[in-house]
Amino acid sequence: MSDLSQKTIDFINKPKQLLINGKWEFAVSGKTFPVVNPATGDVIAHAAEGDKADIDKAVTAARSALENPQWAAMTPSDRGKLIWRIGDLIEKYADELAELEALDNGKPFLVARAADVALSADMFHYMSGWATKLHGMTIPISKSGGSYLSYTRQEPVGVVGQIIPWNFPLLMAAWKLAPALTTGCAIVLKVAEETPLSALRLGEIMQEAGLPDGVVNIVTGFGETAGAALAAHPQVDKIAFTGSTEVGKLIVQAAAGNLKKVSLELGGKSPNIILKDADLDVAIAGAANAIFFNHGQCCNAGSRLYVAHEIFDKVTEGVAGIAKNIKLGSGLEAETEMGPLVSNTQLNRVCGYLESGFAQGAKAVCGGVKRDVDGYFVEPTVLINTTQEMKVVQEEIFGPVVAAMPFKEVDETLIRQANDSVYGLAAGVWTRDINKAHTLANHLKAGSVWINCYHVFDAALPFGGYKQSGWGREMGAAVLENYLETKAVTVKIG
Ligand code: NAI
Ligand code: MG
Repeated sequence: MSDLSQKTIDFINKPKQLLINGKWEFAVSGKTFPVVNPATGDVIAHAAEGDKADIDKAVTAARSALENPQWAAMTPSDRGKLIWRIGDLIEKYADELAELEALDNGKPFLVARAADVALSADMFHYMSGWATKLHGMTIPISKSGGSYLSYTRQEPVGVVGQIIPWNFPLLMAAWKLAPALTTGCAIVLKVAEETPLSALRLGEIMQEAGLPDGVVNIVTGFGETAGAALAAHPQVDKIAFTGSTEVGKLIVQAAAGNLKKVSLELGGKSPNIILKDADLDVAIAGAANAIFFNHGQCCNAGSRLYVAHEIFDKVTEGVAGIAKNIKLGSGLEAETEMGPLVSNTQLNRVCGYLESGFAQGAKAVCGGVKRDVDGYFVEPTVLINTTQEMKVVQEEIFGPVVAAMPFKEVDETLIRQANDSVYGLAAGVWTRDINKAHTLANHLKAGSVWINCYHVFDAALPFGGYKQSGWGREMGAAVLENYLETKAVTVKIG
């Protein structure tokens, strides 16, 4: 699998442009930036460096597409069929898209194929069905002195700016684009500078599916320039962001200028709790998957592992045993189970957290170091001797590093510890005790709670965060609210 397909080589060798109003164009400035393979540090392509000037063009294109009858007057059924076709084409080009993810993000090809690409297709397929089901209600009102008909309409929020990260490049594009298309919005998508490739290929796929010009515009470029311009743009009605909590706060400030609507899917530091009665083989494998999947670069990673003290050594040694056997390598090698981190910046960030953990007294049962190679590899790590106040327990590391802590009882203290975070994205519970499972599920302040499983995502299930993990939900019926306005119409009869 280390040889790329000819189709991928051809795509890589093509100039990388911006998709604006249905045309592929270089950035107004003519500037480009390098795209790096994180497994080797090699530059594999140059992407157009869009900035404010390109965002302006893209927003203008989206605004006119929003009003163009080709899109505005497309029947819900035709809109649904178009979105379904995008899902079909993602399936058709699955191998190519998975190769691009492996090359650009570093994740294993087979994982990209089974998770990122499959879930992206699912997202378009699932959302396509909603296009024909977005309707208001008739509402009886209590006003005296006449007869009234009141009803609501669900209308697209308008021009939507979407800013996505690099951890699941194609899937984050799908999570954002599919519901915005279903609701009839027009979109400017700013993809992450670390991983621009698969979204550009998705742009071609959406054109092949027959999407009218300007409905989706794709800008590659940096956050501080292109991203900031999109978040602040006065002609953008709504901004949807996935990324760091730090930048999420900047988005909120930038959006204040025209009070555009904001939804945010931000960081996490999710507790994963193993009770003493759990099926330990399942729980140990589950705890390893909760933190090591996608090299720990998941907003919902199970990065705080709370284990009943009676089984603490067995579980931490079990997770460490799995970690030691994980095969690190290029995402393009068939036997690779864990690829590199996405960038040198992320590698330094994760290593900085490891150093801080050790300085504060944590010990590594396994890992704790980076690999002495060209790519951005860090060994999967299990930390013990960690306490609640440590930075490695409080802050999002976004790497394959779990902090394990023992607990005595399933009680308020445990719940308080699990909820002791500025984040509230996800949580895991491993037990055979149905009462304890549901009690914990009720008390955990998290948008997703997984019991005897982890990382279970479905296009039909809402996903998002409590506290500083975000505003609003992705996926499911809930995401539609991000992209709709409700209008109440009242008619006086007679
Ligand atoms: P980031 O939040 O800086 O980047 C995410 C996206 O926001 C990218 O498209 C970037 O270009 C854009 N962006 C950056 N600054 C912006 C600004 N001022 N205005 C508008 N857009 C802007 O995340 P970064 O720097 O890649 O990673 C830093 C940390 O953030 C990670 O270590 C991790 O902890 C967290 N993170 C969380 C993610 C999640 O899924 N919730 C995804 C990526 C990162
Ligand atoms: Mg950043």
